[in-house]
Amino acid sequence: MTAADWFSSPDDATTRLAATGYLADPATATTAYLAGALQKPLLVEGPAGVGKTELAKAVARASGAELVRLQCYEGLDEARALYEWNYKKQLLRIQATQATGDAATWDETHDDIFTEEFLLTRPLLTAIRREEPTVLLIDEVDKTDVEVEGLLLEVLSDFQVTIPELGTVAAVRRPFVVLTSNATRELSEAVKRRCLYLHLDYPDAEREREIVSSQVPDLDERVAGQLVATIARLRELELKKAPSIAESVDWARTLIALEIGDLDDKAVADTLGVVLKHASDHDRAVRELRLRK
Ligand SMILES: Nc1ncnc2c1ncn2[C@@H]1O[C@H](COP(=O)(O)OP(=O)(O)O)[C@@H](O)[C@H]1O
Ligand SMILES: [Mg+2]
Repeated sequence: MTAADWFSSPDDATTRLAATGYLADPATATTAYLAGALQKPLLVEGPAGVGKTELAKAVARASGAELVRLQCYEGLDEARALYEWNYKKQLLRIQATQATGDAATWDETHDDIFTEEFLLTRPLLTAIRREEPTVLLIDEVDKTDVEVEGLLLEVLSDFQVTIPELGTVAAVRRPFVVLTSNATRELSEAVKRRCLYLHLDYPDAEREREIVSSQVPDLDERVAGQLVATIARLRELELKKAPSIAESVDWARTLIALEIGDLDDKAVADTLGVVLKHASDHDRAVRELRLRK
């Protein structure tokens, strides 16, 4: 359990995250630092494509830690999140024991098949048991059913997991935990209480330009400015799916590929499909931005 695995200050977080390609604003860097220093899970909430998942990956890269990811979905259960017993293998062992004619008692068999060898470890248990620095990413936690949060609580509050047949497994080294949520539903107060909270939103124009330029260095600076300004205007429209940072980066790559040196209305209209993925959004943008074809 060492906080030394992570960041030594907010500035250190900024610098080291940037070195791995993640440009954090001051609030993000500070919270990332605190999550490591206080060894508290970090809940990151915000719309799709603002860098929630990437933050966890960047913390892992910046610290040389391994990323263990639990992707949440509707119907996720304990067997997929924590551990399950390998029934097939257990059954084979029972049959094999019977076949040898050894009169093993049930107690002996039971002690034999509920051991490490028959345990299938899922992400939460994997992260708890690792002895090397680990970032545990619990991604899109709002997609699970509320019951799963009960499961997360034991892990997040005590950093331990109880397996009835084996006993309690406590973390030797606390993972850096990042939970992400698109806020499609409210998480329970109990989960929130255990976490530090960060609301991530779309970056301001300057930061977005830095992100785009760092990932697509060949993009002309003036075009980069036009690009982020247009993206910002699109995000103000009532769209089904506002363009995310990933789409800004894709757009930049598109402009390079097409050798577009000026993002005028025609260029925007011609390449809008890279940024907007719904016909109705497309129509709305053409109308509201008064794009000429
Ligand atoms: N601060 C950032 N610095 C660099 N790249 C970023 C940043 N935020 C987002 N990105 C880029 O945007 C993409 C989408 O981010 P992601 O983390 O997948 O979004 P979500 O919030 O939906 O989890 C990432 O692949 C990454 O390339
Ligand atoms: Mg994500």
